[in-house]
Amino acid sequence: MVKLAPSILAADPLNLEREIRRMEQEGCDWIHVDVMDGHFVPNLAYGPDVVRHLKRVTKLPLDVHLMMEYPETLLDTFLEAGADILTIHAEISGDRPGLIRRIHEYGAKAGVALKPETGLEAVQDLLQDVDLVLCMTVEPGFGGQELHPEVMEKIRQLRSSGWPGLIEADGGIREDNLKDLVDSGLDVAVMGTALFHNTEGETAVRRMHSIGAGR
Ligand code: DX5
Ligand code: ZN
Repeated sequence: MVKLAPSILAADPLNLEREIRRMEQEGCDWIHVDVMDGHFVPNLAYGPDVVRHLKRVTKLPLDVHLMMEYPETLLDTFLEAGADILTIHAEISGDRPGLIRRIHEYGAKAGVALKPETGLEAVQDLLQDVDLVLCMTVEPGFGGQELHPEVMEKIRQLRSSGWPGLIEADGGIREDNLKDLVDSGLDVAVMGTALFHNTEGETAVRRMHSIGAGR
């Protein structure tokens, strides 16, 4: 069954606790926290304190996506704040294997994210160490964009490679493109707009969970 990870980027920032509790009640699986440094991506979003506060109001795993050029500057702080899954980007210049080791030393799951135009060859050396690969289905930085369909081929390639980890996608995912993604091998769908701006609530979550349930 595909896991649904609502991205708080699309939540009402003035009512974050209420929104998170709603996602949990509607049956979502993880909470996705988009962290942006205004350098790796031309936007700023969320810091470690938000993770610390979220930890107090939900039992759902906190799936923290570091869109940061230098994640080493705050890696430990995010881990101490309670990140359960911490994902760095393949495109950074730092010590990626070292960062992944540090995340594991702390007892969290480690992920690596790929922009749409970044190929799997950029992470071949990391695959045996990471628990999750996040295939961005939009250019990182903003919610509400259209999904890049060519990324499905990357998901298919990774799934058919026999790599045993979790494949996550993020950006532009809605109910009408979720089945294609699941059929390509997706395990976790990050959805901002499609979950937080959904008027059908639990009914929609149940319908989306049933997509590829037998897979
Ligand atoms: C891009 C962001 C968005 C967000 C999801 O950097 O990471 O992908 O999580 O946005 P929606 O689901 O609204 O496209
Ligand atoms: Zn994200």
